Amino acid sequence: MQQPILEIKNLSKAYDRGETVALANFNLSLNKGEVLGLLGPNGAGKTTLISILSGTLRDFSGTIAFKGVDLFSDRRLKNQIGIVPQEMAFYEDLGALENLMFWGGLYSIPEKELKKRALDLLSLVELSSRAKEPIKKFSGGMKRRLNVAIGLIHQPELLLLDEPTVGIDVQAKVSILDIIRNVGLQGTSVIFTTHQLAEVEQTCTRIAIMDKGVILAQGTLAELIRIVGEKEIVVVSGEFTANRFSEAIKKLSPNGVEILSVADNEAHLAFTNSEGIPGMMQHLFKHQLALDDLKIKSPNLEAVFLKLTGRSLRD
Ligand SMILES: Nc1ncnc2c1ncn2[C@@H]1O[C@H](COP(=O)(O)OP(=O)(O)OP(=O)(O)O)[C@@H](O)[C@H]1O
Ligand SMILES: [Mg+2]
Repeated sequence: MQQPILEIKNLSKAYDRGETVALANFNLSLNKGEVLGLLGPNGAGKTTLISILSGTLRDFSGTIAFKGVDLFSDRRLKNQIGIVPQEMAFYEDLGALENLMFWGGLYSIPEKELKKRALDLLSLVELSSRAKEPIKKFSGGMKRRLNVAIGLIHQPELLLLDEPTVGIDVQAKVSILDIIRNVGLQGTSVIFTTHQLAEVEQTCTRIAIMDKGVILAQGTLAELIRIVGEKEIVVVSGEFTANRFSEAIKKLSPNGVEILSVADNEAHLAFTNSEGIPGMMQHLFKHQLALDDLKIKSPNLEAVFLKLTGRSLRD
């Protein structure tokens, strides 16, 4: 069997003298060339994980092996990892090329080679025509793209990106996701975190869903969708509270309906069989729960996420 490029075992990290648990015996294994999308709501522990892997956060327990060796046993190992942090760091008065040359200069890459790589990367992230302009004139999307290029300048074997598509327009998002996919196809292993279901559906070879410091499920999109099974997903909305809705639905018989998540004014249900839907509506009507809207969907990643975390993943 192939040795994983990254093997994380029992990683735990708490803040505030143990009061806030960010990672709780977290385990993850990543193979070479895999593009893993790490999906989790706010506070799930994503940034904590990336910060530990990038060496900026110490004081954790558990083990992290990179190509079979303790990641922190040798400084050179960390140079094989590229980090694209959630917060971007640039010299705003310098141009994109100069920034790349500066960050690349931290690794011992010969000047000529460094310049070639910087120019190639600017082309990859479609910034060649803006190479000399000061960063302060860049849009959010351009900055994000440059951030990705900086993470790649030392040709890392593993690239970690923390929410690389936050706060940018659709076009810039698509371009970053394309870059991630291509980097993976060229053999670099990638982990990227996100809140966006559509992004992982389109980009990853594997998806992991995490919440409260642990991975709840992982697999390909098809494997994850099997968690919900061959069911019809029904989203209902109306003037109801979460409590009243749950109480009413619990009394519904015969069974065959499962509550995936329920909040005030909106609930997600899974039906083994769509024939149960009219009966459910009548039943709710009898309990004086009026619905404004009802949508039927095929099982998707959102339904899996709701089933596992009980909450929705909207920004
Ligand atoms: N410096 C800190 N001090 C105290 N608690 C922290 C600190 N950083 C994170 N936490 C807590 O640790 C938990 C995990 O936070 P983390 O930032 O890793 O989550 P996240 O998945 O990256 O969330 P987001 O999607 O909002 O970026 C949260 O409960 C958070 O409040
Ligand atoms: Mg975060």
